[in-house]
Amino acid sequence: MKNNIIKESGTKGLFGLIGLLVMLLAVTGACTPGKQPAPETESHETGIKRSVFGKMPDGQEVHLYTLTNANGMQVAITNYGGRIVSILAPDRNGKMADVVLGFDNLQGYLDTHTYFGALIGRYGNRIGGAKFTLDGKVYHLPANNGPNSLHGGTKGFDQRVWTAKEIPGDEPGLELTYLSKDGEEGYPGDMHVKVVYTLEKDNGLKIDYNATTDKDTVVNLTNHSYFNLAGEGNGNILNTVLWINSDEITPVDATQIPTGKIEKVDGTPFDFRKPTPIGAHINEDNQQLKYGQGYDINYILNRKGPGLELAARAYDPESGRELEVYTTEPGIQFYSGNFLDGTIHGKGGVAYGKRSAFCLETQHYPDSPNHPSFPTTELKPGQTFHQVTVFKFTTTSK
Ligand code: BGC
Repeated sequence: MKNNIIKESGTKGLFGLIGLLVMLLAVTGACTPGKQPAPETESHETGIKRSVFGKMPDGQEVHLYTLTNANGMQVAITNYGGRIVSILAPDRNGKMADVVLGFDNLQGYLDTHTYFGALIGRYGNRIGGAKFTLDGKVYHLPANNGPNSLHGGTKGFDQRVWTAKEIPGDEPGLELTYLSKDGEEGYPGDMHVKVVYTLEKDNGLKIDYNATTDKDTVVNLTNHSYFNLAGEGNGNILNTVLWINSDEITPVDATQIPTGKIEKVDGTPFDFRKPTPIGAHINEDNQQLKYGQGYDINYILNRKGPGLELAARAYDPESGRELEVYTTEPGIQFYSGNFLDGTIHGKGGVAYGKRSAFCLETQHYPDSPNHPSFPTTELKPGQTFHQVTVFKFTTTSK
């Protein structure tokens, strides 16, 4: 669908009418080309476009779907891992930049295992000792992060090819489905997963997750986009100002598994209740910061009810690009890109250095299956797991 925005010229009365007629003629194509001055138009083709992104080692073609809204905001998603590959968002002067880390083509994602932009499942973040007990039975998972299982195991949802369905319109969307078979990466039950990305008119990128199972299981789905609001590859995120709607964290042990305690952020470097630059306290002498080599912690969100609520806001003071995160989830993992070390070369070959991006992963708490006091991540036959998160892009004059 075509959406033409005609900038008003500010003319009045008769001149205004004539101007309007000329513009109408021009828009309807009735003017002789070259004879009339072109009207000042800004046109953004809203909808969804598909292109080939690359081939899997077995020859299967993988696609890139580019969603565009009337503001010209663009989000590109591949059905490999359901990954957000790029997000073009405007700065305070309307200048677009790609604000997420990623690669130019599928090969980049196949050659280097990162979680850039990926859908994470079945279980976002860590499960301690790579095992959990459910209905009296112990389930063993692949240990892919020291003794623990991280982000769904050795071959999580981030490395699967999803089935894609295009949803055209002014608020274009992409529906992705995946069947995770009983026993995949150690988890019980056939799990049907459906994730719908929608690019909204107000520059929100909505991610709507659904999952069902045929056996008792656990689930914790999230998206692992790495944001840099100054533009990917454009320095570190230490000046990005962050606010998190949270009073408490779930502290971790040396292997980054929650101890089970809940700690107040009061008087600690983890206090983002007032907007604070990410770099302000990141190097303080604090055991939790040392374990993560920077911020890598689950925040317990302040919530009023079960609906979509504002969880965090981040802005880049220089460009004015601002990200708001809304979610239905009880927690958010704030990770400050500590393990990036410049060895990964992303789009255009640029090296992604330490803390060159941050993640705000909306989730249930890490290792919940081993912590009965945490909000449950169990899913039973007949129930539907549902979570909604919106990454909304705005600008600020601050
Ligand atoms: C984890 C980090 C991990 C990163 C990349 C985050 O969700 O909390 O510890 O390094 O993902 O895998």
